[in-house]
Order: sequence, then structure tokens, then C-alpha cells
Amino acid sequence: MKRAACIEDLRKIARRRIPKMFFDYVDGASWTESTHISNSAELAKIRFRQRVAVDVSNRTARTSLLGEATRLPLAVAPTGLTGVIWPNGEIQAMKACETVGIPYCLSTVSIASLEKVANAASRNFWFQLYVIRDRDFIERLIQRAEAVGVETLVVTLDLQMVGQRNKDIHNGLSSPPKPTLANILDLMRRPAWCYGMLRHQDMRFGNLQGHVKGLDSRKGLAEWTNEQFDPTLNWDDVKRLRDRWKGKLVLKGILSPEDALFAVDAGADAIIVSNHGGRQLDGAPATIEVLPSIVRELNNCCEILIDGGFTSGQDIFRAIAYGADGVLMGRAMLYGLGAGGQAGVEKAFAMIINELETTMGLCGVNSISEIGLHNIHHTPSREE
Ligand code: GLV
Repeated sequence: MKRAACIEDLRKIARRRIPKMFFDYVDGASWTESTHISNSAELAKIRFRQRVAVDVSNRTARTSLLGEATRLPLAVAPTGLTGVIWPNGEIQAMKACETVGIPYCLSTVSIASLEKVANAASRNFWFQLYVIRDRDFIERLIQRAEAVGVETLVVTLDLQMVGQRNKDIHNGLSSPPKPTLANILDLMRRPAWCYGMLRHQDMRFGNLQGHVKGLDSRKGLAEWTNEQFDPTLNWDDVKRLRDRWKGKLVLKGILSPEDALFAVDAGADAIIVSNHGGRQLDGAPATIEVLPSIVRELNNCCEILIDGGFTSGQDIFRAIAYGADGVLMGRAMLYGLGAGGQAGVEKAFAMIINELETTMGLCGVNSISEIGLHNIHHTPSREE
């Protein structure tokens, strides 16, 4: 890990270390993966306007998200099954966030439970909620989040049914892995992962096991999700959640200006422009493509966060220039985690901070609030 210079390097290390089934779950996306591919491809097309001879010696990426001071405009996205990437993966990732000074968002479908993460935490973390059919369970889950002091609830709206991820089908994704010949051979090539996991055997969903009916860890994740997730979820449910939840409410999965307005109308404190990392509706646009129209429509009435394909500090700069207040990263964190646990995640964040603050410097910018479209290069058309 010492020579890793960028997130892609951490990804390669993680790929060697983690069983294929779980690496592909993190790395893959739905159907043809076209949305996943375009998320980062569209970001890469955005060019910066270099500026020179500006005093940038005091530049800093420090800012705030939802009223909390942060080291940079970044939060960790909620990711399922993080604890199968590294033993106590959620806790390791949360601690890296605490060290660096950015928000950590725990997923409903985490391995470590809310209580376990809260016991290890010295700061507040965000909690992501999936609305499943059993609404009593949702009420109890909200009570558990309140009891451990969660103040920010992130409700994911784009998973009423699960997008088909072909790699998960090919791999027969299950937690723990089924003892097929292919899986056993694959595990034999990953002794470090096996050793870590054997010492830390719990690979079940900590927030759900024992709290929700019909959960069988041998069942495929997609199968269980499709049975339990609620296709009736609608804006009235979101409004009821808003009335129920006293803390900050963030709505995740917004991809159109119309839905952004519904979210504001429902009382969201922030939205997350997200296509679920290309894991849900394949063929949906890249998030950076839809960001400008949403920024225009909302006209500063709530914070706008974005995720999907962000793997560098340069990508964060691009999103801020296009009008986002902050970025969430899921895979980039997971690659760091898979490469080296908490230290790997800290390494990932250190790279990202360096990339962001270097880009700021070379664009002649000292603070996040100075970043805007004026920092983006627009190729003039031939007529101009
Ligand atoms: C869960 O959120 C997933 O994308 O698998």
C-alpha cells in the first residue's frame, strides 16, 4: 500500500485481497453498467481553467456540510456489506472518517449494527434508511438510531426494487459465501481475508438480524431485497417520515429537477443527486450531467450533495464548480478499506485531500466557497 498513489492503485490492491464475489459486489453495477461507466467518464471530460501567479499559500478545502465543520466537502456514502470487505469494516471506515474529519454514513444493510458502531464512535455519524415493507421495523430502527444519537437520517428513495447486477448473479452472491468449488478455490487465493474473517465471524446484517422477519442470510441479497423493499413507497410516506424524524433529513436518489422540488416540498434539509453508483437504473444519466439543472431549479433552497463515479479530489472540485455543496464517495472508501482497513481508508482520504487542494492551488483558488463555473474551461465554438 506504501506506493499506492491514487484510488485506482488501492482498487487493485483490494481486488487481490477480497473474494471475487464481494469485490464484484462493490465494483459492479446494474445490467450493462453503462451508467456506472458514464458517471466517471462524464466527470473526466470536465477541464479546469488554470490560473497562475495567485497567492494560494493559505488555501484549504475545509468547509461544512449540513452545519458540521468538515475537513473537505466529502462524506462517506452508505454502502451495504462493508463488514465483509474488512473485519469490522464499518467501524474501521467510521474511525477513518473521525480521524480525517468528515461525516460517515452507516447503511441499513451494514454488517455492524447501529449500536456497535455507536459504541466505537466518539462523534455523531449519519444513518441511511431503506424503507422496507415492515413499517413497525422501520419505526423501531428509527428509535434505535435516535437512541444512539444519530442526528442525520439519509433516506434512500431509488431502491424500491433492486437493479439487476449481472456479476452478483454470476457469482451467486451470498453472505457468507456458499461453499461451491469456485468459491472455495477463490477463498484459497485470499488467505489474509479468510484469516481476518475467521477471527471475526459475524457476517450477518447487524441492523436486521433478529429484528426483521424472513431474513435468511443464506438467501441471495438481491432476492431478499426484492422481497422486503417496498414498491409502494411514495412522497406521502416521505412526508410522514419527515414529521416523525426530528433531526436532519437527507433524501438520496434524486436525478431530476421535478423530484428535487418534491424533496424540498417534503421538507428535506439536503438532497443527494445519485444514481446509486450506476447500480439501479442502468441507462440513467451520469449524475454530473443532471446536476446543473437541479442546482438551477433549487436555487439555494437546500444543500445539494452528489455521488456516482467520484474517485478523486479533482472530481470533488468539478462537482463544487457545477454547484454542489459536497460529494459522497462509496467505492473509493471501500477500495481503501479493502486495501488496508482503517489505514487504507485514511490513505484514500489523504490522496483525495491532496488532489483537491493541489487542484485548488493550480486554479488560483483559496477556499471551497470561491470555486465556481469560472474555474471550468469551456471550449469556445469555432464561430466565437
Ligand atoms: C445496496 O445499497 C447496493 O447498492 O447493493
